[in-house]
Amino acid sequence: MATAIINIGTLVTNDPSLGQGPLGIIENAAVVIDGDRIAWVGNTSKAPPTDNRTDAEGRAAVPGFVDSHSHLVFAGDRTAEFNARMSGRTADSYAKKGAGGIRTTVAATRAASDDELDATVARYVAEALRQGTTTIEIKSGYGLTVEDEARSLRIAARHTDEVTYLGAHVVPPDYADDPAAYVDLVTGPMLDACAPHARWIDVFCERGAFDGDQARAVLTAGAARGLIPRIHANQLGPGPGVQLAAALGAASADHCTYLTPQDVDALAGSGTVATLLPGVEFSTRSPYPDARRLLDAGVTVALSTDCNPGSSFTSSVPFCIAVAVRDMGMTPDEALHSATAGGAEALRRTDLGRISEGARADLVLLDAPSHVHLAYRPGVPLVSAVWRAGERAV
Ligand code: NIG
Ligand code: FE
Repeated sequence: MATAIINIGTLVTNDPSLGQGPLGIIENAAVVIDGDRIAWVGNTSKAPPTDNRTDAEGRAAVPGFVDSHSHLVFAGDRTAEFNARMSGRTADSYAKKGAGGIRTTVAATRAASDDELDATVARYVAEALRQGTTTIEIKSGYGLTVEDEARSLRIAARHTDEVTYLGAHVVPPDYADDPAAYVDLVTGPMLDACAPHARWIDVFCERGAFDGDQARAVLTAGAARGLIPRIHANQLGPGPGVQLAAALGAASADHCTYLTPQDVDALAGSGTVATLLPGVEFSTRSPYPDARRLLDAGVTVALSTDCNPGSSFTSSVPFCIAVAVRDMGMTPDEALHSATAGGAEALRRTDLGRISEGARADLVLLDAPSHVHLAYRPGVPLVSAVWRAGERAV
């Protein structure tokens, strides 16, 4: 049964062949949804007849946000760590405490029941949906035993198709004396148990986590099992991660906060998306990545939340858009594109991140006349309705 959404004041299609500019903007637009797909897009005056009609009354519409980076399978919280950091004690900076903080969440996650973890994931997926996120990638990484990583992935897979095995998040305390043995576990028995439940493999390549050689071993082992690489790279300082991602043809290099000119060139010459996560710099009071430099070099940029209890406890893509525009040199158009089409590219999903025929029917109506208001009105809950796979979800 087809439904038309009519009288959309400003529609971002992300298909330049359909409208004005790189965002393919159509004014006074209509969108026809048939089943879980977009069936037609154009001017309201030309909309074909349908069984149902929803009048957008001039509101703007954008593609559903594609949040390509989150860590929602966790237990406990890190309020005290955040409070100490924001209370200005430099010894509490995230760079100094990062791996230690992750281990706190690992202990809480191991102690939690499946039902508790499932309820947490459901809660934050629903919270994200209310803010316009229609696709969310979810990583493991707070289990760090064969069984705790496998169950994290099984639970994540109940909530999304985009599941990432991050057994190589940090070396857990039980392997502190023998990190090489932990890498053997991650690339051996843990990979055997986890590969059936995941699409992606990830590694935290950073001082205090895994070095370039270890990261390469993890990603190539995963790729040999059919998982597609992505990486946490260059978050806390310069390092080999970004160039490794480009060399391995990873789908995405995430964080990209500390980049050399060679890193930018490597990304520009590759198909690897740079996924920027401004919630992290906000919540750790750190310098933001330079999106302008990446965009000017021709790199595809995605914008995501990194929602996790340690470095970025936000599920709000609109918040990330506002920060990226204010502090990372992105225009409002670029930020919107990165949070939709950019995220889709980071997940290698050609059916997402656009409102054009054949795409999955993921659409967000904003209580605003244009998408620019996402940055112009920071912190304001502008999402007024969400369709996900053709169903009215909010
Ligand atoms: O993407 N950098 C590594 N992992 C997460 C943080 C995890 C945590 O602090 O619990 C991130 O920022
Ligand atoms: Fe992350």
